[in-house]
Amino acid sequence: MSKRLENQSALVTGGGAGIGRAIAIRLASEGARVLVADINEEGAGETVRLIGDSASAIHLDVTQRVSAAGMVAAAAERHGRLDIAVGNAGIMDRMPFLEMTDEFWNKVIGLNLSGAFMCGQEAARQMAAQDGGGGRIVFVASNSGQFGGRGRAAYGASKAGLMNLTQSMAIELAEHDIRVNAVGPGPTKTRDEQGDVPPPSVMSRMPLARFGRPEEVAAVAAFLASEDSSFVTGHTYFADGGYTVAGMMEG
Ligand SMILES: NC(=O)c1ccc[n+]([C@@H]2O[C@H](COP(=O)([O-])OP(=O)(O)OC[C@H]3O[C@@H](n4cnc5c(N)ncnc54)[C@H](O)[C@@H]3O)[C@@H](O)[C@H]2O)c1
Repeated sequence: MSKRLENQSALVTGGGAGIGRAIAIRLASEGARVLVADINEEGAGETVRLIGDSASAIHLDVTQRVSAAGMVAAAAERHGRLDIAVGNAGIMDRMPFLEMTDEFWNKVIGLNLSGAFMCGQEAARQMAAQDGGGGRIVFVASNSGQFGGRGRAAYGASKAGLMNLTQSMAIELAEHDIRVNAVGPGPTKTRDEQGDVPPPSVMSRMPLARFGRPEEVAAVAAFLASEDSSFVTGHTYFADGGYTVAGMMEG
């Protein structure tokens, strides 16, 4: 593995499982020191164990401003600065629109969108203020942010909002040498109960016709976190097997 992130300071929210864990492992394998931040301390600890000495863990609840600020302060203290912040923590939960409660809506938006805002803002403030300035912020969006889906009014809105937040942050933070991008996973196999293949509604419009692997999403996140993407900002780069470009598939 190339060491294009040698000695960089990184943090990953929701790094204690699934895609976030794969991103933390990938950044570390490219040379970064990684702060693994998660509400599930056991999961974060397991990610650190898998990485080794270049990682450490911290408890984080992305819905709490004080917790987001504490995470960024810890990264700056432990590593001397913050170069890369990955806003990955999120929940995918569905509820029919006519039955959707305020509580459900606020939970999904609060975690996926407001949480990303607070963590992203805290990270950007650190990056703008530190010696030499600059950094890279990478959010984990979703193909559900690109178009509507059954039961996904809250989830889709949270991810569409995150993609627009990515654009606005990129515009305002460019003068501080901070690039902001997102990776948009399609259906990615992170747990056993998902089965071996995506459901028929997905398979019918997915050219690569399989689940993505967390490592395949992590590879795109690492590209966006590295200088290999030095002229890329404000974009969502989909790692989705072609799902978001598929229209009529018969014939
Ligand atoms: N798996 C997929 O198919 C898929 C597809 C598109 C987008 N995504 C997005 O990728 C991201 C990761 O998804 P995943 O499938 O790996 O999920 P996951 O549930 O396996 O992992 C999410 C992690 O976030 C943590 N977390 C939850 N609430 C938190 C909070 N309040 N504060 C801090 N950490 C918290 C969890 O403890 C967990 O470790 C999410 O943003 C999700 O929306 C996933």
